[in-house]
Amino acid sequence: MEKDLLKLLDLTGEDIDHILNVADQMKYSQKHHLPHNYLQGKALAMIFEKNSTRTRVSFEVGMYQLGGHALFLSGKESQIGRGEPIEDTARVLSRYCDGIMIRTYGQNEVEELAKYADIPVINGLTDFAHPCQVLADLMTIREKMTRLEGLKMAFVGDGNNMANSLIVGGLKTGMSVSIACPEGYEPDPVVLDFARAYGDKFSLVRDPREAAADADAVFTDVWASMGQEGEKAKREQAFAGVYQVNEELMKLAHPGCMVQHCLPAHRGEEITAETFEKHAPEIFEEAENRLHAQKAVMAILMGEEKL
Ligand code: CP
Ligand code: NVA
Repeated sequence: MEKDLLKLLDLTGEDIDHILNVADQMKYSQKHHLPHNYLQGKALAMIFEKNSTRTRVSFEVGMYQLGGHALFLSGKESQIGRGEPIEDTARVLSRYCDGIMIRTYGQNEVEELAKYADIPVINGLTDFAHPCQVLADLMTIREKMTRLEGLKMAFVGDGNNMANSLIVGGLKTGMSVSIACPEGYEPDPVVLDFARAYGDKFSLVRDPREAAADADAVFTDVWASMGQEGEKAKREQAFAGVYQVNEELMKLAHPGCMVQHCLPAHRGEEITAETFEKHAPEIFEEAENRLHAQKAVMAILMGEEKL
């Protein structure tokens, strides 16, 4: 494993499997009240330039359960918001803390932070990637389906950070991946280049029915991500009526197919309330697994003990 978790493209399939195995152990330890304080006395700085519920709470509680401490730094209220260079922030935080989690816009900001920080940097979402979410997603599928290899993942909607990370995470763990998005809303070209090397294990289609056909896990995400609020009306026009996970679409998938959503969900837009509620147990398990997967990432990157 590298020093940081910046994007799944930087990890091997074996790295991902290892994180998922440690994540399962973390979940077991927490459920059975077994000690797992791998980060005793350590501190995680959490920089947020965008809103969050799950990421903030799961990292903060995760650090606490590992015996460490997490501190919240809002982009606006810290000196970052007044223009202090990221390379200075990186060098300062490296002197106080043992790791940095950052949620921001440009992937380049996270890469820059990691370059100047002596401590591990974890990407808590950028416009390009959401690696922690997808580790939790893979953990959830593996938990329910007992494996990933050979299963089909479908994603319906915007070719955004979630689509980018699902493509990479799915393919690297032996799944086949099909993405249905409107023209002009494709995943990142770097990710498409990566995916094309997987031949017919990857497809990019326009029709959600083609993507969902025989799927084992169907994913969707909001039509307008954080930072794209100004494009809401235009995006609604491009996605409405077609790019929605609903009961009719789910009939085409394998019986027992999972539905996953990173949340927050917009009922009546990318998913119907009916389909959401039908799959709520696995969607909230997915949200819970953020905690376990991130504890695994932090313990592996920031701990003294080799896991
Ligand atoms: N899924 C996710 O990252 O949720 P938050 O935006 O609430 O952190
Ligand atoms: N694509 C969404 C994910 C939120 C967790 C966004 O970036 O806003």
